[in-house]
Amino acid sequence: MKVLVIGGAGYIGSHVVKELMAKGHKVTVFDNLSSGLKQNLFKENGFIKGDILKVKDLEKAFGKGFDAFVHLAAFKAAGESMVCPEKYSINNITGTLNILNAAVKFKCLNMVFSSSAATFGEPQYVPIDENHPKNPENYYGFTKLKIEEFMAWYEKLKGLKFAALRYFNAAGYDPEGVLYGLEKNPANLLPIVMEVACGKRDKMKIFGNDYPTRDGTCIRDYIHVTDLASAHVLALEYISSRKESLTLNLGTGNGITVTEMVDAARRITGKEIKAEYVERRPGDPAQLTAKSDLAKEKLGWEAKYSDVDTLIGSTYSAYKKFYKM
Ligand code: UFG
Repeated sequence: MKVLVIGGAGYIGSHVVKELMAKGHKVTVFDNLSSGLKQNLFKENGFIKGDILKVKDLEKAFGKGFDAFVHLAAFKAAGESMVCPEKYSINNITGTLNILNAAVKFKCLNMVFSSSAATFGEPQYVPIDENHPKNPENYYGFTKLKIEEFMAWYEKLKGLKFAALRYFNAAGYDPEGVLYGLEKNPANLLPIVMEVACGKRDKMKIFGNDYPTRDGTCIRDYIHVTDLASAHVLALEYISSRKESLTLNLGTGNGITVTEMVDAARRITGKEIKAEYVERRPGDPAQLTAKSDLAKEKLGWEAKYSDVDTLIGSTYSAYKKFYKM
């Protein structure tokens, strides 16, 4: 298929592009390179430097004729979204509506969308299945939930078929080592652990050790970005061949605590990784794990790279390569 990947120069987008190429799809990347990196582009693919806030850019891109598109262009810092909701309204909501309108105008009616576990908010039970109530606790999660609703309306009114993929904690890097462009100003756990391991920061903070979990630190469901990428390709093939939309959770169901993650990183990198326990970070649920049986049932998808050693090992390799260590 001819696939337009919007946000394809970013961390997850570039892994999706690599997987699409491996499965024989013809890819064009659309990205404004605000957080995406030139380094993440493959020279075999088309590239359009464009902005989702510019309708003209989108119409020019969709005008080239695509069978499907993947939309991963969004701001994703939950904390920031509570301070600057306007940024998230404009980029995530307005940007997505621009994309949807351009897509239907040019009859590109198969869409895979990066949604998030942030659509659920504080879990009422774990593991979280697709039907768990949606009560986002931050504005970022709210934007993702609203976009899921927009897609459902465009399905009814315009015949769009979509896959909303709700990622849990995306982590890891391309196990083949081709992609190692690091995110700018990362705030997530593993990149921060790696910055300490690589000597880019002296120590890290572990936010809270008084949660009701086995060691008092938060439990998360880390899913390797290459596993996420394979789910995108399977979902794209599913919705376009069956003409049926999908909403899926993507995680492994295995919860890992923050302390376990840091200890594993010490073992794998052989570095001390200084960490201190500090106050809880506001808005962090004690445990977030996914029930992703539906992805297996619908797509035959299974996580292959999401064990702790591959998550951390592949990330450490990317950091060492990037910093030429
Ligand atoms: N953490 C630390 N120290 C740090 C950074 C993080 O202790 O320096 C802890 C957090 O408190 C949390 C865990 O590590 O307990 C994971 O935190 P991240 O910031 O890496 O990820 P979140 O779970 O907060 O959020 C991520 C994505 C969201 C997504 C969510 C879904 O960033 O977009 O996973 O599970 F919605």
